[in-house]
Amino acid sequence: MTSPMPVGPTPIDRPRRLRSNTAMRSLVRENTLRPADLVLPMFVREGASESSPISSMPGVVQHSMDSLVAAATEATERGVGGVMIFGVPERKDAIGSGATDPDGILNRALTRLRSELGDSTVIMADLCLDEFTDHGHCGVLDADGRVDNDATLVRYREMALAQAAAGAHLLGPSGMMDGQIAAIREALDDAGYLDTALYAYTAKYASAFYGPFREAVDSSLQGDRRTYQQDPANGREALRELELDLAEGADLVMVKPGLPYLDVLRDVAQASPVPVGAYQVSGEYSMIEAASAHGWIDRDRTVLESLLAFRRAGASTVLTYYASEVAGWYRDGLPAHLREFL
Ligand code: PBG
Repeated sequence: MTSPMPVGPTPIDRPRRLRSNTAMRSLVRENTLRPADLVLPMFVREGASESSPISSMPGVVQHSMDSLVAAATEATERGVGGVMIFGVPERKDAIGSGATDPDGILNRALTRLRSELGDSTVIMADLCLDEFTDHGHCGVLDADGRVDNDATLVRYREMALAQAAAGAHLLGPSGMMDGQIAAIREALDDAGYLDTALYAYTAKYASAFYGPFREAVDSSLQGDRRTYQQDPANGREALRELELDLAEGADLVMVKPGLPYLDVLRDVAQASPVPVGAYQVSGEYSMIEAASAHGWIDRDRTVLESLLAFRRAGASTVLTYYASEVAGWYRDGLPAHLREFL
């Protein structure tokens, strides 16, 4: 025996009307993704003759020069907004000499990419010393072993000139040194690189979500970066960093990591007159991969949902290790199980 449905109060507002079918949902969708919103971070390893996997980031590799060019060309053909290049040098030293050497792996990769790709995508360079220093810090150290802010700015200026000379369109200073945007902008302007733009890592937190990246760049870091990257407990200081970066000449600003910091992204996006980006970092990528490998989540839908969340929170661009794959989905027409994201 079944009992009759209870008759309850009749709602006046029925938001479900706008969710009643695919076409209706599509009509009222507020945010969408396009390939040009996505930036692909890529790793290139000095001396490598072929690409090698990064075990903590299944599907992401350390490229050889040739495989980097091939993958960047493919991503460009799929319409990604840009590529962000990180170098993995063979040799490291205290001041990160490889970062400013025109023959260093990162500068060679930038030169090669610019000559192959021209202006068909935006070629971005990570501007930081951590991959190149034997102690793994983002700057040079003083006599007491602390990261020396102002001595580091001198190195960043030199690194910026090397990257601009190599043809990078957009430099991404990720070291969280005070005054880095002003120092780099001045160096570029003095040398006549007026069109080389700056993508400031404005709010970059000292995050455990960078874990897999340390393997990706063979990091030498002992300890942590808490004297220069932001405390995860703090939101307000992101707005102070934003003010400073804008005053110093940032062309775009970024919040990093991504999903755990959507509140910060929203605050920065509301306050910023320049485009705002978000970085879905290595640990976020690896969590999605690990859970989907177990069959615990639907990988593809989780990927698109996470990327859409950045757009909803106010990001114009999203740096993500999924950039090329997702751009390919949109270019080829979204498969049936992903149509809800069109
Ligand atoms: C530092 C840098 C890091 C990342 C990008 N640039 C690591 C760090 O700050 O410790 C992390 C990116 C990621 O986890 O995907 N140059």
